[in-house]
Amino acid sequence: MSLNLSLLRAHPAHIDTDAVVAAVFEDTGLSPAAQQLDEACGGRIARLLESGDVSGKAGRCALLLALDGIHAPRVLLVGVGESSKVDAGRFLKAAAESIRALKGGPVTRIHSALTEIDVVGRDADWKLRQAALAAFHASYTYTTTKKSAKASPLTALSLSGDDAAADQLRIAAGIADGVTLARELGNLPPNICNPAYLAEQAGHIAASNDKVSLEVLDREQMQALGMGSLLGVAQGSANPPKLIVLRYDGAATDQRPHVLVGKGITFDTGGISIKPGPGMEEMKFDMCGAASVLGAFLSAVQLGLRINLIAIAAAVENMPDGASYRPGDVLTSMSGKTIEVLNTDAEGRLILCDALTYAQRFNPATLIDVATLTGACVVALGKHAHGLMSRDDALAAELLAAGDASHDRAWRLPIWDDYQPMLDSVAADMANIGGKWAGAITAGCFLARFTEGQQRWAHLDIAGTAWDEGRKGLATGRPVNLLVEWLIGRQ
Ligand code: BES
Ligand code: MN
Ligand code: ZN
Repeated sequence: MSLNLSLLRAHPAHIDTDAVVAAVFEDTGLSPAAQQLDEACGGRIARLLESGDVSGKAGRCALLLALDGIHAPRVLLVGVGESSKVDAGRFLKAAAESIRALKGGPVTRIHSALTEIDVVGRDADWKLRQAALAAFHASYTYTTTKKSAKASPLTALSLSGDDAAADQLRIAAGIADGVTLARELGNLPPNICNPAYLAEQAGHIAASNDKVSLEVLDREQMQALGMGSLLGVAQGSANPPKLIVLRYDGAATDQRPHVLVGKGITFDTGGISIKPGPGMEEMKFDMCGAASVLGAFLSAVQLGLRINLIAIAAAVENMPDGASYRPGDVLTSMSGKTIEVLNTDAEGRLILCDALTYAQRFNPATLIDVATLTGACVVALGKHAHGLMSRDDALAAELLAAGDASHDRAWRLPIWDDYQPMLDSVAADMANIGGKWAGAITAGCFLARFTEGQQRWAHLDIAGTAWDEGRKGLATGRPVNLLVEWLIGRQ
């Protein structure tokens, strides 16, 4: 994205910009930067606070125009709640809302003094990186297939901070590129963003950097590998499946790679176990796991991380057709294990199990899959936390910590063996669905059966977090921020 980031330490009344952003507290009123602005304009801001026209409620914005004594023609005051309780969530809400209030123009340059306030448990580097990321996020507009939509004219954002923190802005820009890629791929309609399109986008990433190589496996190559489970899902679609394998050599060849695997169902009708009509269009987002691993991969490449990384996107469309797989079918996975299909709408695990088996040929240091896997995960955790499942406590702790650091949070669910009998089948080694209960967990348990030799494996269910639901819903780009935060720590 073309938002230019910089750092600036200056009196807010003297800055040459189109708008200055400063914080207001609900209890103690003006932040230090807002006080400086208030003094420069003869107390006008304090009077607006007294009259109740300006509020310190978290995320609430007030735009003041042409204040005497202040160089910038606009001052945007943004509420951050009570001064001692500004946590990561309130801070990021204020950071995003302040950009949202200004992104429609005519402003093109903004200075934000928001990063001067104290945030509970977070340091200056955190505030700068995450405020920059929130600004990138808030300034994004989906325009690709909406001819009447305009991209934001914002071009430059300076943040209050010292030059020593310049690296945080570079990191934020690298992460933002990955987040934006994931959002854009998610938002594209399913008649454009099909498996071949995802492969083509991976090709652009590979072409941009000579440490990156790409292999795309087609149906015949997957047949030769015995990927009967993935191919079973794919067989009802006119859009042939692709297994997209991107490889980044950022470290010595003897270092084992981290491998990210993403669910790339470019549209999920449910297949023969067809979904109800209302809301089905949201299933264009069923490739957001794949989009997020491609996004995290792009960020890692752009940041030049000193790691070896492989991103695998399993790109398949799940359609009802005369050639479709059906309930009752028994599929033979690449691992040799057989699977009785009891519901063709539980297709994500069927493509992931073969992608996870394939991934093990790279002898991964860590194997992480990301998937919009279950409605049950949305019931359990809602829209805020990714569902995290792993048998490896150390890896789970690393991912929870990365989620907390990036405020792209995950919450762990158990995948104890006690749940495994729910997948029993008389016709095959396992069924593709559990019972009525614990649907997110039985899906995780299913995947666990295909990663048994792999110590460090984790599964992220992003069904509730990958997009904002409803008619105005857009892809969030999550969990790219979590994944890149974690990858940065692996160097
Ligand atoms: N892609 C869906 C999961 C989903 C549903 C994500 C709603 C986000 C919102 C997945 O393929 C699916 O259909 N899962 C079924 C599994 C069931 C048949 C065991 C589900 O969750 O209902
Ligand atoms: Mn489904
Ligand atoms: Zn699905």
